[in-house]
Amino acid sequence: MNSTLLLDIIYLVASVTFILGLKMLSKPESARNGNLIAAAGMTAAILGTIFLRNNQIPSIIYILLFAAIAIGTIIGWMTAKKVKMTAMPQLVSIFNGMGGGCAALISLMEFPEHAGHMKLMITVMAGLVIGSVSFSGSVVAFLKLNGNLNSNPRIPFYNVINALILVATLGFAAYISFAGVKDMNMGVIALAMALLYGVMFVLPIGGADMPVVISLLNSFTGLAAAAGGFLYHNEVMLTGGILVGSAGTLLTVAMCEGMNRSLFSVVFGAFGAGSAAAAAGTSATGGTIKDISVADTAVLMNYAKKVVIVPGYGLAVAQAQHVMHELEALLEERGVEVSYAIHPVAGRMPGHMNVLLAESNVDYAKLKEMDDINPQFDTTDVVLIVGANDVVNPAAKTNPQSPIYGMPILEVERAKSIIVNKRSMNAGYAGIDNELFYQPKTSMLFGDAKKVVTDLVAELKSM
Ligand code: TAP
Repeated sequence: MNSTLLLDIIYLVASVTFILGLKMLSKPESARNGNLIAAAGMTAAILGTIFLRNNQIPSIIYILLFAAIAIGTIIGWMTAKKVKMTAMPQLVSIFNGMGGGCAALISLMEFPEHAGHMKLMITVMAGLVIGSVSFSGSVVAFLKLNGNLNSNPRIPFYNVINALILVATLGFAAYISFAGVKDMNMGVIALAMALLYGVMFVLPIGGADMPVVISLLNSFTGLAAAAGGFLYHNEVMLTGGILVGSAGTLLTVAMCEGMNRSLFSVVFGAFGAGSAAAAAGTSATGGTIKDISVADTAVLMNYAKKVVIVPGYGLAVAQAQHVMHELEALLEERGVEVSYAIHPVAGRMPGHMNVLLAESNVDYAKLKEMDDINPQFDTTDVVLIVGANDVVNPAAKTNPQSPIYGMPILEVERAKSIIVNKRSMNAGYAGIDNELFYQPKTSMLFGDAKKVVTDLVAELKSM
């Protein structure tokens, strides 16, 4: 078999592994294997490209290639091993940025090769501009989520400034492509302009909106890589890029739908910056709340037939997932039916709650999606909400003035008793008050989630 045919087969198999891997990522049970299958396909494609595509590579290039792969592998492996679940969005962001940066550099290197050929230069400039925006935007998103940059700096007229930079960058890239510009310095200027746009694009967006932006930048990286695939006639790069591009776009749309927000308002609005009331921890509703003790909560749960746990962002912050699983096992031992209600945008990244609970070995069958669990609240004795807020806010259904109006929520108020664990009356991500906390069936169990659930476990054990 000649090497070209072998390489084509490897590319085909690798493309299939990407598709299979993506499909398997959609379920917690198969996600780990899906990731491994796609990674194996990618490894085969990289090795195939190095050894089968062009065998006139000087040996020094092989040494450099494998040194780069070794350094990248070690850094990637160690970072992914060490990262905390709560720091996952910024890790995804920086890894994504690296992809965008690579695509931009590839395009820059190809600039002198294709300068003057209009069709190819359109592809080169697309990779260069999109890859650069993805790179610098992802770096800014990383710095914000990592707490190194102000989450929501107020830049006056940023929409106008950004529109001008975008038009100038696109206009300049189009000029280079259509006018047959051959000067490499022009390519470097276009790269710098696109890098600046990436920074300015992400800078004004609220830190809490970052997961949506990261997903959008992810799709940019995919498109930039696909441009590289066109350029090199490399089918696997093209397929991989298109898959990343479309998966990133679908994820962005799904997140926006889950939050009932348009992408426009994420990119151009100031939502997520937190309202004045939220910042002050005050109540717009002004009702009275009812406290409950750990001991009373334990009694209520112990004698319940059916308990539904609603995990949210606070559970992740407190890292209370392991003790939560212990509580669930303890209740099950006493004949209580326990399940978890998973809202599609609970937490701060897609699948956040699924990943978190999978970490503590919660049975996947106990994780119920919103549409499955909502009809079950009528027959639920106790709902225990742990560090969740917006995803159970009835204002999404009842108050057309609310910024979350229209967002599908977990209809916990249909249960017999609702217990809410959080540390204070502070708002969640949307920065708005939650009338659920003032309803007669609701009791507030204040405290850090890990401490409170640990105390609940101890209390139950002593009963
Ligand atoms: P949130 O509405 O953000 O509420 C989390 C609550 O957890 C806060 O009110 C906070 O109250 C409490 N909390 C924080 N630390 C805690 C701790 N150590 N112990 C106990 N409680 C703690 O969370 P949610 O209900 O999960 O909703 C997610 C929100 O994020 C939605 O608005 C969603 O649109 C948005 N969002 C989601 C995503 C994805 S993809 N998941 C992406 C971007 C935005 P205290 O400060 O009083 O404790």
